[in-house]
Amino acid sequence: MLRPDINDLLTQTGPGTPMGDLFRRYWQPVLHTDELPEDGCPPVRAKILSERLIAVRTPEGEYGLMDEFCAHRGVSLFFGRVEEQGIRCPYHGWKYDANGQAIDVPSELNNSEFCANVKLRSYPLVKVGDILWTYMGDPEKQPPLPTWEFATVPSGQTYTSKRIQESNWLQALEGGIDSSHVTWLHGGGPKGTGLEADPLFAGSRGNKYNAGDVKPFFEVVENEGGLLIGARRNAEEGHYYWRVTPWVLPNFTMVPPRGDHPMHGHFWVPIDDENCWAWSFDYHPTRDLTEAEREAMIAGAGVHSKNIPGTYRPVANSENDYLINREKQKTGEWFSGVEGIAIQDSSLQESMGPIVDRTKERLVATDAGIIKARQKLRRAVEALRDKAEEPVGNVPEHQRIRSVAIVLPADQPFVEGIGDAFQAREGVGQTTV
Ligand code: FES
Ligand SMILES: [Fe+2]
Repeated sequence: MLRPDINDLLTQTGPGTPMGDLFRRYWQPVLHTDELPEDGCPPVRAKILSERLIAVRTPEGEYGLMDEFCAHRGVSLFFGRVEEQGIRCPYHGWKYDANGQAIDVPSELNNSEFCANVKLRSYPLVKVGDILWTYMGDPEKQPPLPTWEFATVPSGQTYTSKRIQESNWLQALEGGIDSSHVTWLHGGGPKGTGLEADPLFAGSRGNKYNAGDVKPFFEVVENEGGLLIGARRNAEEGHYYWRVTPWVLPNFTMVPPRGDHPMHGHFWVPIDDENCWAWSFDYHPTRDLTEAEREAMIAGAGVHSKNIPGTYRPVANSENDYLINREKQKTGEWFSGVEGIAIQDSSLQESMGPIVDRTKERLVATDAGIIKARQKLRRAVEALRDKAEEPVGNVPEHQRIRSVAIVLPADQPFVEGIGDAFQAREGVGQTTV
């Protein structure tokens, strides 16, 4: 349980909030490159950390991210015309370059002098992998560009999708590091595990261990940049199955791998305090994704979702009770009655309300990872606010990380057993069961 002021501290990310300041020290995903597909294409609205922004790609190929609203009388630049070197407001023709600097105010006699004093708030927008990233903090403190493995492997090896989640970012993050719900929420099915029904999860020995032990034991270990959260379940005689979920501050998590399937993970990015983007990626460190894998991802299998065409809202959403199938819930084919891993997660995380009241929860031993992550987040927020202490997780050394699934002898601590398997190493495959 959390005090109400601490719940506010961790969940509020708008401008000027302490957690908002922390988030503004990291590169965050804003758009998929597909959303600005070509030079001179239409602008795209992008709301992040409670700031309404507009993203542009000029005819010359320059990306820009700036305040959505025209400095003159507040028209949304979503309706703007993308023109040579920038975007022009359609109301009275003020024009801005990709950095939000006014470059033409036609009504003014002394046009250039007037322009010099008009600039929209703007942030860098940079392509790394299939993602356009932004950094919204003090330019002097801008960290190196992101080096996450999913965004830096060759494009044939990786796939990223996103969906809107109607909940605060922390609820989504806490789902991402909560390995104990896998047995329940994602369970069911004829083989005792709903995961077997998913083409991106099927066939791994880990599924059997997941289904066979409903009392996982948690061990949480400090790691540079965040935590390694180990969940231990029974395996063959004298052995344990360990699933190791890394969390890197503030909002990056990875799901432990299964068999030779691509590895997956998430960024949970605040849109505002009541909504977030669930960015979901899949990549294989050493081989291209197969056509079948890519098709399954596009169709919404694994950690991805089937969205309403032209939007990022899942087809199964709060308005239709996530298309819950009571019959399948009853027979146990889908333990929760909801289809698909991503929607199983979003249905329950959204059901808690946009910002869950953490003063009322009753945490247990399997919530160890969540408790530790909250403590670490709180420390990072307060250290930045009170002592201007540099945050962790925004440098390449902390981003070369992987999840791990491994069977170890019962007497071996997981940190020892996994060695450096949790580090991303080019050309080296994942450690998986
Ligand atoms: S409101 Fe944009 S030019 Fe007038
Ligand atoms: Fe889940």
